[in-house]
Amino acid sequence: MASESNNILETKDLKKYFLVRRSLNPFSRSERRYVKAVDGVSITIPRGKTVAVVGESGCGKTTLARTIAQLTSPTSGEIIFDGRLIGGGRASRKEVYKNIQIVFQDPDSSLDPKRTIEDTVGEPVRGLIGGSKSGVQDRVYRSLAAVGLSEEQAQRLPKQLSGGQRQRVAIARAISPSPKLLILDEPTSALDASVQAQILRLLIELQSTFGLSYMLITHNIAVAQYLSDTVAVMYAGHVVEYGPTKTVLAAPRHPYTITLMNAAPIANPWKRNLLSVEIKGEVPSSINPPPGCRFNPRCPYAEAICSEVDPPLEEVSPGHLVACHFKEKTEGVFAGAAAIGSGQTKGPIKAA
Ligand SMILES: Nc1ncnc2c1ncn2[C@@H]1O[C@H](COP(=O)(O)OP(=O)(O)O)[C@@H](O)[C@H]1O
Ligand code: SF4
Ligand SMILES: [Mg+2]
Repeated sequence: MASESNNILETKDLKKYFLVRRSLNPFSRSERRYVKAVDGVSITIPRGKTVAVVGESGCGKTTLARTIAQLTSPTSGEIIFDGRLIGGGRASRKEVYKNIQIVFQDPDSSLDPKRTIEDTVGEPVRGLIGGSKSGVQDRVYRSLAAVGLSEEQAQRLPKQLSGGQRQRVAIARAISPSPKLLILDEPTSALDASVQAQILRLLIELQSTFGLSYMLITHNIAVAQYLSDTVAVMYAGHVVEYGPTKTVLAAPRHPYTITLMNAAPIANPWKRNLLSVEIKGEVPSSINPPPGCRFNPRCPYAEAICSEVDPPLEEVSPGHLVACHFKEKTEGVFAGAAAIGSGQTKGPIKAA
């Protein structure tokens, strides 16, 4: 897998629906119900860069990650990795897994408590790369050294390490087959703030050492701000705002992003955690999403068209895309970078 493309990953109109209820009559399609977990997502990750995906629980972030990494098949749409279409058997799973690795939120559930660190980190090397026993061991030790763990620590079990060290093990395992893209699914949200900062610094270091590209899923605005070049804001399976992180977080234009930013206005930016955000109104159902714009039941700007026509993503400034019929009304509504931490707002949007 190698190409001249500037982008390591592109998704085009990617969809992943889960069938949740089937009619007793197998010939009836009318009663089939789907969770539209990912519903037409198009994102691009340039080589060596980080794209953050932010949004509330249940908006489809993990499903997007799993679909890109071919842990589940897409319902439709395209995934172009390293300049080539993958999925639908176009590239072998082994080839995809070698090149795209995921680090999950909770190392405690992703590490086998009975296996030594060396054994765990060696698993993808044995399965995806192969080679002699000493060759595998060498690669494992190099991966562990890259995350700051020693050969002595490699002989321990997960419970003999701290939470931060266990997440380092999960990262070492992910980088051990030398992937090109790491998908980081809430990589620090199970950790204390001080450990969180160390892991984020480590991720930055690994990115520059190995030229890695990252898709970073996070609830935390500060984490997205710290690590990412581009941010995609997801709402109910859709990307509703997309663009350079600095622009989107300093001057968000989608009413949902503005609501999120205003709802997490506390002094310590490391606690700008969207998990604690509560937004007025009905949380959308991914089974029966509202017609038109999915944010319309909660949006203070909504007008009749919003419950009829789903707005497309359109550019409001170079590279900054917003899916809203009334995006001209939100210009300057968020008080901007100065408001981060103070929660000031000029406009009508307020969280519950
Ligand atoms: N295997 C599955 N079967 C049915 N529904 C699923 C499955 N996985 C996820 N979902 C649903 O898809 C939606 C998105 O879930 P998820 O991708 O985990 O969101 P997030 O990571 O943003 O919290 C949720 O409504 C969730 O219940
Ligand atoms: S399209 Fe309408 S409902 Fe959706 S965010 Fe814009 S104003 Fe709100
Ligand atoms: Mg998730």
